[in-house]
Amino acid sequence: MHALLNVAVMAARRAGAVLGRNFNKREKLTVENKSHNDFVSSADLAAEKAIIDVIYKHYPDHAIHAEESGIQGESDHIWIIDPLDGTTNYLHGFPVFAVSIGLQINGRLEHAVVYDPMREELFTASRGQGAQLDGHKIRVSGNKDLYRSLIGTGIPFRDADEDLGPYLAMLSKIAKSTSGVRRPGAAALDLCYVACGRLDAFWETGLAPWDLAAGTLIIREAGGIISALDGSEDHIKSGHVLAGTPRIYRSLAKLCAKEIKALV
Ligand code: IPD
Ligand code: CA
Ligand code: CA
Repeated sequence: MHALLNVAVMAARRAGAVLGRNFNKREKLTVENKSHNDFVSSADLAAEKAIIDVIYKHYPDHAIHAEESGIQGESDHIWIIDPLDGTTNYLHGFPVFAVSIGLQINGRLEHAVVYDPMREELFTASRGQGAQLDGHKIRVSGNKDLYRSLIGTGIPFRDADEDLGPYLAMLSKIAKSTSGVRRPGAAALDLCYVACGRLDAFWETGLAPWDLAAGTLIIREAGGIISALDGSEDHIKSGHVLAGTPRIYRSLAKLCAKEIKALV
């Protein structure tokens, strides 16, 4: 394993341990409302600190772009961190959440880790080296039939007003044309589920770079496609994302072309 990925894994496991310890004492956490339906708890902050401490111990000159503490430092190496993806799930005791860490070097994603402390599942990837789940190579599903596919999504809930109409039209079409739609509640993990074939595709609007960075590399290294809804490469910036196996990705883009136009 590359030394940088090794540090990312160490940091993710450290954060996972913090989240695991606090999960059964959730009533003791302090919770703040960042904005409508957007929460941060003392567990998010402690997990983020654990990650940053590990990174700085090994690479004090690298830059950090973390959800809770923002941008720190300047470097061609930028660690993009979501210490707890799925905070709403976590705060409700719904055991679907993850730690997500991506490393960008000179603007390109090079290493990625998503760690699910409840299932103790570790998704990793390094550019050009494939993607792994617990050290075993993973690939997107070989499913070619949209009608037999399982699709993940995230339902708009923050500034939902603009997006909700076209989003619901898209949901309606996809629900009728597939085996089903799931909304697990942790986007970084949803992307890894596409990478390992548990889902055939995923779409969501309004995501942030820390939701998407690690999962983007993991999906690509697993043979999947990820882009903005309109097919452009700027999904990490725009936050509107469509991902999937090449076949199912194309089928969904075609099926929902009209709704996608209204969303982007
Ligand atoms: C959220 C989760 C959720 C998605 C939201 C994200 P957070 O991340 O990934 O699935 O629907 O848009 O913000 O806030 O729990 O880190
Ligand atoms: Ca997140
Ligand atoms: Ca988060």
